[in-house]
Amino acid sequence: MSISKEKTPNCKVVLLGESGVGKTCIISRYINGTYDEKSESTNGASYASKTISYENIGKSLQFDIWDTAGQERYRALTKFFYKDAAIAILVYDITRKESFDEMKNYWYNQLKNFSGKNIIIGIAGNKSDLYDKEAVSEEEARKFASEIGAIFRLTSAFNNNNIDELFNAVGNLYLDPKFQDDINLEKHEKKGENVTKLTTDDLHVKKK
Ligand code: GTP
Repeated sequence: MSISKEKTPNCKVVLLGESGVGKTCIISRYINGTYDEKSESTNGASYASKTISYENIGKSLQFDIWDTAGQERYRALTKFFYKDAAIAILVYDITRKESFDEMKNYWYNQLKNFSGKNIIIGIAGNKSDLYDKEAVSEEEARKFASEIGAIFRLTSAFNNNNIDELFNAVGNLYLDPKFQDDINLEKHEKKGENVTKLTTDDLHVKKK
């Protein structure tokens, strides 16, 4: 299918997780196709964008991707970056249990408390190339992802495992018309407009 000539929508994506889990490396791998062995800790936040085409549905999407600092001293600042994000990717390091616990107990709770209610969540179990040092089982991570309705992938910025796949999956969900309906409803609700969401059942009743 050819790509629609409509303006490409853009959506804000934010990567969150403990310092050192590989957020910056995932983004460089995704945007530039490169891997930086000596990646330095992010100060504050940084931004990059990438447009992708979904040939199967004839649509394209621009990701505006924010890399946030995992270090505790930046946490008050990080909040500004996920408040209005459409997609959050929570990252942990499969070799460090603490990074998984922190993702569950801190980062996910932050999203629950401060992001929009329709935010799409992806989880990256990063450094999958180090599977011989695995400290969090895939099963445990998948269980958590399914409890919170998140898309889960084991990723590796080092060997480029599943990174495109994860971004493709969250983008696909974002472009789903059902999801767009929910976002529009949320926007109206924020403006204080009184909107009743029609379900398929409502339509059925009205048709009778
Ligand atoms: P902060 O900016 O401090 O929040 O850290 P970060 O989450 O952005 O981590 P960063 O991308 O800087 O990576 C931290 C370290 O992990 C670096 O030494 C990377 O080379 C390494 N690293 C990142 N991704 C991978 C991976 O997939 N596999 C392996 N083996 N190492 C990785």
